Amino acid sequence: MFSKIRTVKEAYQNFKLFISKVYEPTEAESITAMVFKEILGYDRIKLILNETELLSAALFEQIDFIAFQLIQHKPIQYILGYTYFHDLKISVNEHVLIPRPETEEIIDYILANHDNRIMDVLDIGTGSGCIPIALKHQRANWSISAIDISAEALKTAQSNAKKYNLQMEFILADVFEFQPNGKFDLIVSNPPYVLESEKLQMQQNVLAFEPALALFVPDQKPLKYYERIVSIAAQHLNANGKLYLEINESFATETAQLLAQFTFENIQIIQDFKGKNRLVLGTKN
Ligand SMILES: C[S@@+](CC[C@H](N)C(=O)[O-])C[C@H]1O[C@@H](n2cnc3c(N)ncnc32)[C@H](O)[C@@H]1O
Repeated sequence: MFSKIRTVKEAYQNFKLFISKVYEPTEAESITAMVFKEILGYDRIKLILNETELLSAALFEQIDFIAFQLIQHKPIQYILGYTYFHDLKISVNEHVLIPRPETEEIIDYILANHDNRIMDVLDIGTGSGCIPIALKHQRANWSISAIDISAEALKTAQSNAKKYNLQMEFILADVFEFQPNGKFDLIVSNPPYVLESEKLQMQQNVLAFEPALALFVPDQKPLKYYERIVSIAAQHLNANGKLYLEINESFATETAQLLAQFTFENIQIIQDFKGKNRLVLGTKN
């Protein structure tokens, strides 16, 4: 694809054009910038300053390989092996969901509501470990445990925590069988919540590459994870403990009702930056 290309500028423009077959122009631009930052170490200004620099054959090969994976819809985060979450570089692979900006907002919300006082925290369905890692990074006094049913996901989460030298407990467990030891002051979860029927509207890169185990629930049981998590929270939160749940925007009312059935108080539904219902929270009475 890039055989006649010589300079950084030509390579950049060609790459962007090539991936525009499958990406919108603004996304193609930002992915191209990410790739060139990764491969050359140049941010946008350095790219302009060095645009006439000649690229080596080895670099072309790397860029070529990335471009071909991208047009097969492989997410850039899986190609590069990382993403940024709450300003932390988090390793990702096809065993973990790519952390989303909506989840970063939940971290902001939790941090805004809780200071660094000692607390016991549980994250259910931790995936890459993005939630406990972002929390522990800001709240060193919290004692955090995280569970996931996927051993591969937990391995990724553990290595992410190690990279930042953060101590936390990772537990391999199925939430439907999990019996926590002791009590918590805060439980957070971003469980699978996409309906099988919603697959039709999803982008190919999500469907083909992200783990189905992290995403889908049967149409007939959209709240299956929430029913279990709220029941765990009802038994294992201390009085006045908080439950934070990321949700499918179509089931905010039903999730809030579920919390009410378990006698949670101060139940709120919070919208994300796209104006969609994304977080349900409540306080254990
Ligand atoms: C939507 S992903 C969230 C990952 C991560 N917390 C995030 O916000 O990016 C849901 C996670 O729940 C895990 N999971 C699915 N079923 C589970 C189960 N029965 N018990 C425990 N974890 C489960 C998946 O492996 C996946 O990592």
